[in-house]
Amino acid sequence: MTLFYPGQASFEWVQNGKTHGGARPLTKGGDSCMTCHAAELEAIGNKIVAGGETEPTPIPGKRGIINTTIQAAHDDENLYVRVQWPDAPHNPAPFVDGGKMDPDNQVKVAMMIAGTGIEMGETTGCWASCHADNTYMPFDPGAEAIAGNADVAGRLEATDTITKYLTESRTKVEVKGRRGKAQGGWDKLKSADEISQLFEDGTYLDLLRVYADGTSSNGYLLERRIVNDGEMSAEANLSAGIWTVVFSRPLNSGAPGDIPLEPGKTYTVGFAIHDDYAAARFHHVTLNTSLALDDDTAQINVTKQ
Ligand code: HEC
Repeated sequence: MTLFYPGQASFEWVQNGKTHGGARPLTKGGDSCMTCHAAELEAIGNKIVAGGETEPTPIPGKRGIINTTIQAAHDDENLYVRVQWPDAPHNPAPFVDGGKMDPDNQVKVAMMIAGTGIEMGETTGCWASCHADNTYMPFDPGAEAIAGNADVAGRLEATDTITKYLTESRTKVEVKGRRGKAQGGWDKLKSADEISQLFEDGTYLDLLRVYADGTSSNGYLLERRIVNDGEMSAEANLSAGIWTVVFSRPLNSGAPGDIPLEPGKTYTVGFAIHDDYAAARFHHVTLNTSLALDDDTAQINVTKQ
């Protein structure tokens, strides 16, 4: 699979006809990102990474795409995923002291699985959680505004910046940004009861992460990024210039925050690689990707072993 560099192309950006040519078919026509872009990810990634409207702070030398091999299998209990890609030389980020945004992790791998009841969750994958007011995004409200809304800041455990979240967790998310309005909706948080109900209904993105040293975290995204210590195991290594990350989790742990993977159902997933000590949005990602157990019509056919 081709993972490409998305810059600041947020969920708001893709839905706004002023910034994105595909906005209308996406929001009104039910098209998915892959419908239009499957064949041009290399061109998009290379263009954005070089800097421009969707990348005001480019990292010189950073690659626009990562050609990645993703394999998946299951047995009666677990899902197993192996992600492999070529390492690349270090390119310092000019806007960070020392050039490494996350000096402890040369790489990180994330896999998201879309739950139910997420608007455009199936057609956009990770984009459902990538907002214009997240960390390093154009409408990042800043520490002062966050501190100025103590109630919301407390509930989001936010100090400096806002993590990814689902639109469903907000009463309103500004998409168009007309008359100078900030895009996003970090501060329009629904009540704790409403958010618990969404969680119970499975309206969240399951989020599995593996770090360069092979440690991992299993959590989810709803009103913010939450690590809930779901069951998961992983390993990571770099050998002969190739990174290999392998992880597994129960098909159906029964635990809240883990989307159960059942035969006969097709899921939308997304993968992200943070390479070269990157953090936040400075990663490479897939568009909406389908995954199913023993079904060769899915892009990722998780075969029984
Ligand atoms: C109906 C087709 C269609 C759909 C669906 C669609 N797009 Fe687009 N997209 C376009 C068009 C048209 C452009 C403008 C292309 C150009 O300028 O060459 C574009 C441009 C882009 C660009 C900027 C590329 C560049 O060269 O700067 C990005 C990033 C992008 N789309 C991401 C997405 C994502 C993410 C989704 C799903 C959430 C999506 N698109 C869904 C048609 C679509």
